[in-house]
Amino acid sequence: MEINIYPTIFKRKSVRRYKDLPLDHVLLQEIINQSKNMYPIVGDFDYEIEIVGGQDLKGYLNFKPPVGLILYAQNHPLAAFYAGMIMQKVDLLCSANGLGTCWLGMATAKSNTHQEMKAMITLSVGIADESLHRDDITQFRRLDITQIRDFPYWDQILEAVRIAPSATNGQPWYFKVQEDSIAMTFRKRLDVKDIFVSHLRWIDAGIGCCHLLLALQEQEITYTMRLNHKIESENDTICLIDINRVL
Ligand SMILES: Cc1cc2nc3c(=O)[nH]c(=O)nc-3n(C[C@H](O)[C@H](O)[C@H](O)COP(=O)(O)O)c2cc1C
Repeated sequence: MEINIYPTIFKRKSVRRYKDLPLDHVLLQEIINQSKNMYPIVGDFDYEIEIVGGQDLKGYLNFKPPVGLILYAQNHPLAAFYAGMIMQKVDLLCSANGLGTCWLGMATAKSNTHQEMKAMITLSVGIADESLHRDDITQFRRLDITQIRDFPYWDQILEAVRIAPSATNGQPWYFKVQEDSIAMTFRKRLDVKDIFVSHLRWIDAGIGCCHLLLALQEQEITYTMRLNHKIESENDTICLIDINRVL
């Protein structure tokens, strides 16, 4: 299995058309297991990822998913943020290992077998019947880097976040940067369509943070991360990265 997921950040794309072929559930389970022990690790957070057949999903399905991976989580103030971060590792692992994926923000299992836990997010997986990857970074339809940060200190790192997937491609992240720190916040709401998916902004933030931490690791930058556990408004800092040392 390919476990180096950093390069996949720069080529992954949503896949919504799939071949009518059975999926290797052993590989899927291996991917789920692998993601649990992979950086960035989310500690002290109970969750499970379940494999569900596409026919057993309900909700908003704008395409036919062969399989859904559903993340169930304990009640936690940062559950959606963590779910985004964890599922993005799964997304990148699938893509790195030849499987097409697409997030499904409004779909869940027809029957919830996890009484104690809440379904947070679903990822569609299947054998792609369209291109699995982008050829180069110009094919990402995204905001310019200048629209998602104030100063250019950490653009090389933030480039990995800029191209991260998000619900309705809303890209709700904004970074206040200094020479020795990166603070992640929500971008001021600019688009009316964002209002309809505001609960997914926390999932998006987790996805963006996953890319941020993978980029810091890739550049061998050591840091301390402080997550804000008492987020009261969307103007608060979500997480603060203090850069300790650039190796
Ligand atoms: C939390 C979340 C929910 C999403 N929900 C859907 C969905 O219901 N249907 C869909 O077709 N795409 C969905 N997407 C995929 C986004 O539309 C897609 O990631 C974005 O447009 C960027 O395109 P890309 O992934 O190809 O780079 C979702 C993405 C995220 C992160």
